[in-house]
Amino acid sequence: MAKIVEIVIVDDNLGLLESLELYFREKGYAVAIADNGEAGFELIKARKPEVAIVDLRLPGMGGLELLKALKNEDIDCRIVVITAYQEMETTVQAIKLGAFDYLHKPIDIDALDAVVDKALSDIPEKEVIKVIDEDFKENTIVGRSHELKEIFKIIGLLSEVKTTVLIVGESGTGKELVARAIHYHSSFAGEPFVALNCSAIVENLLESELFGHEQGSFTGAVSTKKGKFEIAGSGTLFLDEISELPLHLQAKLLRFMQEREFERVGGNRKIKFNARIIAATNRDLAQMVKEGEFREDLFFRLKVFEIDIPPLRKRKEDIPLLVEYLVKKINRTTGKRILRIPMAAIDRFIEHDWPGNIRELENVLTRAVVLSKDDCLHETSVVNLLRQPHVSHSTSFQLKSLSEIEAQHIAQVLEHCQWNISQAARILGITRPTLRSKIRSLEISPQNS
Ligand SMILES: Nc1ncnc2c1ncn2[C@@H]1O[C@H](COP(=O)(O)OP(=O)(O)OP(=O)(O)O)[C@@H](O)[C@H]1O
Ligand SMILES: [Mg+2]
Repeated sequence: MAKIVEIVIVDDNLGLLESLELYFREKGYAVAIADNGEAGFELIKARKPEVAIVDLRLPGMGGLELLKALKNEDIDCRIVVITAYQEMETTVQAIKLGAFDYLHKPIDIDALDAVVDKALSDIPEKEVIKVIDEDFKENTIVGRSHELKEIFKIIGLLSEVKTTVLIVGESGTGKELVARAIHYHSSFAGEPFVALNCSAIVENLLESELFGHEQGSFTGAVSTKKGKFEIAGSGTLFLDEISELPLHLQAKLLRFMQEREFERVGGNRKIKFNARIIAATNRDLAQMVKEGEFREDLFFRLKVFEIDIPPLRKRKEDIPLLVEYLVKKINRTTGKRILRIPMAAIDRFIEHDWPGNIRELENVLTRAVVLSKDDCLHETSVVNLLRQPHVSHSTSFQLKSLSEIEAQHIAQVLEHCQWNISQAARILGITRPTLRSKIRSLEISPQNS
């Protein structure tokens, strides 16, 4: 993890403020500025920089007040104050209030540079990752491993050509995320992205899900309905868990991929298909072909272009970035504010094997964030969570029903919120009535959780 050193500069002289900002930014620091005491205080509180350069004479909240306020909040930041010669009294006050050093106006940049260096030199090597929320972007693929960089390149290449793609990878490695990235980086990103999970639909309805049906074509077909192929238009059709497609539908899919046109169930009008097909699987299709469970011809049609996403345990250098990104994401969804992640906690994540890949990492982090009592993701809580059998290594995997896990998780969240139903429902992402009905049906009560 790159060491990011942050500096906040507070001065009401805008010219000076901007030139200092430029100067320190050029030197590779992360710089934030404020032109008054109140804003400066908020900025230092929020960003917890290593060093702050503060003019003592500020309109509104002055430099001394700012120092006092920081002291009251117990904010650990080295403050270099800027004073005028005639302000000897206030300078002494500032040093008493904990300022690291002071400089007289007009500012000699070399002297300031030396003071900042001195302030930084005896700060221990950065041991925490700071979570800064501003640059969060949803649906980003995060990582810096060689494997992931190759995938970024492929996504770029595929933006120009509309070939069929097969994405292969263990559960939770990010197959759907990559499929979406391919779509949203392509020249037809404005067209629909339609996802269909081949394992999640009732078999005799799958055909109508895919191809649509004409009114009256079977009992229950009360009106004409477009299928996923038609809805995808000229966009992308994502066939998730393609291995679960029954053999007779594999034949139909193959024919359709060859002809690139289809008919609705019960219809005879040919409809053209212009979308890109991206299929995904966590199973070994070649092996399934050998065992006669998957059609070989369809397999080759799908793997025109294959993307293999390696499991997380084979690209552990992605873990620090992923943890930082996912914590930002979880902060947003849970309303919590984790601002610091100690490197010691990151090390624990790196040691873990992650059989459930990034989804597992996200789940563990969600629990850690929800259970945290302050703005730090402490190593001890990470260790405890990784020790729990249901999030730990697959060898200690416990066979539990979904409702058991659900009951356990809901109970934990409720405990955390001290049975505040609204807050718990918000964290769980369900409505209050749904939560109440789950509490009843899963028989969750405060004493047994
Ligand atoms: N490189 C990544 N950067 C950021 N988030 C990621 C990354 N990879 C996966 N995720 C997140 O992890 C979760 C699981 O990813 P996704 O659903 O794409 O996995 P999958 O391979 O389709 O899993 P499954 O086989 O279980 O369906 C998602 O929340 C996704 O956003
Ligand atoms: Mg998936």
